[in-house]
Amino acid sequence: MKLDIIILAAGQGSRMYSNLPKVLHRVAGQPMLARVIGCARALSPHHIHVVVGYGAEEVKAVTQDDSIRWWYQAEQQGTGHAVQQALPGLQEDHAVLVLYGDVPLLAPATLQAVIRELPGKDLVLLSAELADPSGYGRIVRDAQGRVLRIAEEQDADPQTLGIREVNTGVLATRSALLKQWLAGIETGNAQGEYYLTDCIGLAVTGGYRVEAMVCENAEEVLGVNDKHQLMQAERICQRRTADQLMALGVTLLDPGRVDVRGDLVTGRDVVIDVNTVFEGNNCLGDRVSIGANSILVNTSVGNGTRIHPNCHIENAVIGSDCSLGPYARIRPGTRLADDVRIGNFVEIKKSDIRTGSKINHLSYVGDADVGEQVNVGAGVITCNYDGSRKHRTVIGNRVFVGSDTQLVAPVAIGDGATIGAGSTITKNAPGDTLTLARSKQVSIKHWKRPEKE
Ligand code: UD1
Ligand code: MG
Repeated sequence: MKLDIIILAAGQGSRMYSNLPKVLHRVAGQPMLARVIGCARALSPHHIHVVVGYGAEEVKAVTQDDSIRWWYQAEQQGTGHAVQQALPGLQEDHAVLVLYGDVPLLAPATLQAVIRELPGKDLVLLSAELADPSGYGRIVRDAQGRVLRIAEEQDADPQTLGIREVNTGVLATRSALLKQWLAGIETGNAQGEYYLTDCIGLAVTGGYRVEAMVCENAEEVLGVNDKHQLMQAERICQRRTADQLMALGVTLLDPGRVDVRGDLVTGRDVVIDVNTVFEGNNCLGDRVSIGANSILVNTSVGNGTRIHPNCHIENAVIGSDCSLGPYARIRPGTRLADDVRIGNFVEIKKSDIRTGSKINHLSYVGDADVGEQVNVGAGVITCNYDGSRKHRTVIGNRVFVGSDTQLVAPVAIGDGATIGAGSTITKNAPGDTLTLARSKQVSIKHWKRPEKE
C-alpha cells in the first residue's frame, strides 16, 4: 500500500515563550521540523504533507524540497483540525502516517515497525511507557489490555493521570478511515480543540481494530513543548553523537562536554578536549587534536594538525601538520596549506597562507596571499580597508616581515624580501632586499631632563 505522511507544524508553541515558530527551534543545529521531514523522507512515502499556520512562510523556508505539499491551517484549532487541512491531498486507498513536528528524535526504523503492523489493523498508534508521563495524552486500556481511547492531560481524572503509557503522536491508518473519524470529532474538551486523539475512541466504538505499539526506546518519542524539553532533546542527541564518535575511535575527554551541531567526519586517532563546539559540516583528518574551548564552523582540518585551546575557526580549510592557537581566530575564506603555524591572538581573514609559513603573535592578516616559508613578526597588520573598499596584500615566498609592521594594501612584497620592524609599507617592496619605512633613530647628547624645583 502506498503511504502518505502528514506532519503537523502549525502551532506557535506558546509554552516556548518565543516568537520563533516552535518547530523551527533547533536540536543539534537542525530545526525540529527538518529532522521530522528527514525521518519521513527515509520512509520513501508517496507524498509528504506539512500543515503550517503560525509563521507559515518562515516554517516553509526550512526545506528547499519542492516535492513537499504544504497545507495552511489559518487558526490553530487543534491537532485533529490540523490533519483535516491536509485531507484533500490524500488518496483514498493510501496508508497515512501522522507525525508531529515537535517530536524530533524518532528513528525511521521505529516508524517502519508501526507501518508494518497496519495490514492487520485499522489504526496503529505508537505509545511509550514513561517514568514521568506528565504533559502527554494517556493511553486508556480495558481490563484485557485493549486500547479504549486517549485521554489528554487536561481532561484526565486523577486515576487516568496515574497511567504511565502515553501517546507519542505517531498514528498510522488508512486515509478513508481517517477522514471518517475526523468528521466525527468535536471540541467538547478542556481546551476547546479538535483533538486528533479523539479518533482513537471513535475507532474503538466503531468496532475497528486498534493497536498501540509500545516504543522500546522512550528517548525517541520526547515531545518538545517547552525549553526544558528542548534541552532534553538536545542532550539526548548530543549523547548519541558522542557515542557514535567514540564507537568510531575518537577520543573524547568528556562526552558530556562536546557539542556537534551538524555533521562531523573524523579520521583515526582524533582527540577532542572539553567544551568544544562543532557547527555545520566539519571534517577532521587523522591524528587531529582539538584543544579545549574551541569552536569550529564548516571547517576541514588536515592530518596531524593541532588546534590548541580557545580557537575560533569558521569556514576555513586547514592543511596537514599545522598548529593553531591558543587563542587564534580564523575567519571565513581562509586557507592554510601544510605546516603552517598560527599563534596566539592572531586573526586571519580571507587569506591564503602557503606551506611552512608562520604568523605567531598578535597579528591581523586579512585579504592576503602569503607565500611559502614566510615569517610574519609580532603585531603585524594588513591595512586592508580604506574606509570604503577592501584591498589585497601579496607577500612572496621566504619573506620576513619585521614586528609591528603595517602593510597598507594594495601592496606587494617580493620573494625573499625583508621588511624592517616598525615599518609602514605603502609601496611595493622589491624581492631579496631590505625595506624600511620608519623615522631614523637619533640620540641627543647634551639634552637634560628638566629638574623639579
Ligand atoms: C499532543 C497530543 C498528546 C501527545 C503529545 C505527544 C493531541 C490533542 N495531543 O499533545 O496526546 O501525548 O502530542 O507529544 O494531539 N499543531 C498544529 N495545529 C494545531 C495544534 C497543534 O499543527 O491546531 C501541531 C503543533 O505545531 C505540534 C503538534 O501539532 O507540532 C502537536 O501539538 P502540541 O500542541 O504540541 O500538542 P501536545 O500538547 O504536545
Ligand atoms: Mg507537543
